[in-house]
Amino acid sequence: MTPTTREDCAALDAADPLAAFREEFVLPEGVIYLDGNSLGALPRSTPGRVADMVEREWGRDLIRSWNDAGWWDKPRTLGAKIAPLVGAGTDEVVVGDGTSANLFKTLVAALRMSDRSVVLGEAGNFSTDLYVTEGAVSLTGAVHRRVDPDGPELAEALAADDVAVVLLSHVDYRSGTMRDMPGITRLAHEHGALVIWDLCHSAGAVPLDLSGSDVDFAVGCTYKYLNAGPGAPSFLYAARRHHAVADQPLSGWHGHARPFDFSADYEPAPGVSRFLSGSQPLVADAALEASLDVWAGADLTQVRAKSLVMTDLFLDRAAKAGLSSITPAEHARRGSQVSLVQPEEGAGYPIVQALIARGVIGDFRSPDVMRFGFAPLYLSYVDVWDASQALLEVVETGEWRQERFAQRAQVT
Ligand SMILES: Cc1ncc(COP(=O)(O)O)c(C=O)c1O
Repeated sequence: MTPTTREDCAALDAADPLAAFREEFVLPEGVIYLDGNSLGALPRSTPGRVADMVEREWGRDLIRSWNDAGWWDKPRTLGAKIAPLVGAGTDEVVVGDGTSANLFKTLVAALRMSDRSVVLGEAGNFSTDLYVTEGAVSLTGAVHRRVDPDGPELAEALAADDVAVVLLSHVDYRSGTMRDMPGITRLAHEHGALVIWDLCHSAGAVPLDLSGSDVDFAVGCTYKYLNAGPGAPSFLYAARRHHAVADQPLSGWHGHARPFDFSADYEPAPGVSRFLSGSQPLVADAALEASLDVWAGADLTQVRAKSLVMTDLFLDRAAKAGLSSITPAEHARRGSQVSLVQPEEGAGYPIVQALIARGVIGDFRSPDVMRFGFAPLYLSYVDVWDASQALLEVVETGEWRQERFAQRAQVT
């Protein structure tokens, strides 16, 4: 049930099975952090883990750490730790490179597996997905067709039976709309297409079942809900059934079957490792590992249940402030984010800035969307109540109209 008072929220906090996780994170006094959908908070164990990696593994043990500290295998061992969070087999996920690079690798690999040449993407997808697709189609001679995946266009486009690959975000970065992964994947397969899901706004936010949904490929970042830190490496999922045939374009020595043969010819590794390219950012991997060890104790069903109560509460309170939501009211179509718009044009950015000045951190996305992300591991229900109270006050008093809140920063 959605709480209607601050006392209700305090009661929910007292009974919250995830409450203890908050202690695992460093959160500054006076800040309510609603931007974990952009950059997750710092786990308390991360600085120590990174320092140990740098001072002991690198500083003292030097090159021996490639073997002794398992550096060579980090893409696989970290992938295996992500696998249960996305419903994949431990041998189906690797960590490495950035999301954009992994999108490119999976997209070209999928195109090479098909005798068709249409990539069906979404018109409003995150910019990098669109740009990477443009790059991939210009290289391969494929065609990029863009549709609205939340209306009838997707099914209509698939019915043409000429689509090679469907590339969609599972949770939309702007509106927080969640798509029906099993249903869309099934439909695409029925029409002979492969599917790649971008899980940037899903991993650690909602339960996922890549294997059960029969997904072909997926990529996702680890710096949002997975709290691995700015610029942290991404993960790539490839269904086991595709391992033997997937031919990715950034063939490098870490993806070779026998890298230390240094043979002159490329022979891809037999499993998901064939999606690796070159050396990985091992200091960043240490931060990811610390965060995944926190996640290992979390139950995603509880995370989801808490997230839905929090987003319901925030949506209710935002409506009281006269703000409209572009995030679906239906639970089945909502990620872990609430995106709001103010009727007055140009109000979104200064409202977010006024909230930040009060210690309530959300962010802004063009054209006029205020985004608020809910990370149940480190947010309390009372935090959400207090944040929504600040929002009500900022809007009702017109506090956001102050000149200083209109200055646009480089990162919004
Ligand atoms: C849906 C989506 N895909 C990709 C990215 C980012 O890609 P990269 O990790 O390569 O910067 C983001 C970043 O916010 C995103 O929201």
